[in-house]
Amino acid sequence: MTNVITICGSVRKGSFNRMLANALPALAPDGMKITDAPSWEKFPVYNADIQNGTGFPSDVEALAAAIRKADGVIIVTPEYNYSVPGGLKNALDWVSRLKDQPFVNKPVAIQSASGGPLGGARVQYHLRQILVFLDALTFNKPEVFVGAAQTKLDAEKGLHDETTRDFIKQQLAAFDKFIARVKA
Ligand code: FNR
Repeated sequence: MTNVITICGSVRKGSFNRMLANALPALAPDGMKITDAPSWEKFPVYNADIQNGTGFPSDVEALAAAIRKADGVIIVTPEYNYSVPGGLKNALDWVSRLKDQPFVNKPVAIQSASGGPLGGARVQYHLRQILVFLDALTFNKPEVFVGAAQTKLDAEKGLHDETTRDFIKQQLAAFDKFIARVKA
């Protein structure tokens, strides 16, 4: 069994990226289990004084432990001002300061959904740059950009666009093979 966790970049009620992340378990290939990572929502703004004072918040440790345990991570995120949402970046900054930094050699795939036509293409390339520093093994292709998200995702039906469901299945199957290659 390949265990994969999703980290969502939006905590908004009604988030399209949350709906997308929620759709993934049903689209996974046989043998891949996808679950949600512990939330980063309550992480304080990164401050080395907290780290050096009371230590890492328990929520940070919980997210890091889940990443370490997982065979792979899928980050599903909106694009904010052509880049990574601040809350998600803060979460990555926190876990990056741990001694046993959890993203080292970790297979990571990226998905993004946006109301615009590009589906968050720009956030993905900023996120990839961050993942270089974290020494993650970022999965390349196929990429998943869900543009015009409001026409493909809704609260009742979830991810209802068949074309999008198909290419996400293709990404998850390829990510599964990528993880197997890394583990071999
Ligand atoms: C956005 N949005 C946006 N969309 C985009 O395609 N490129 C961008 O650079 C931005 N920038 C941006 C900044 C900020 C601060 C907000 C709040 C929004 C629109 C964004 O994609 C849209 O609100 C999504 O619906 C947000 O994702 P969730 O919360 O639905 O998952």
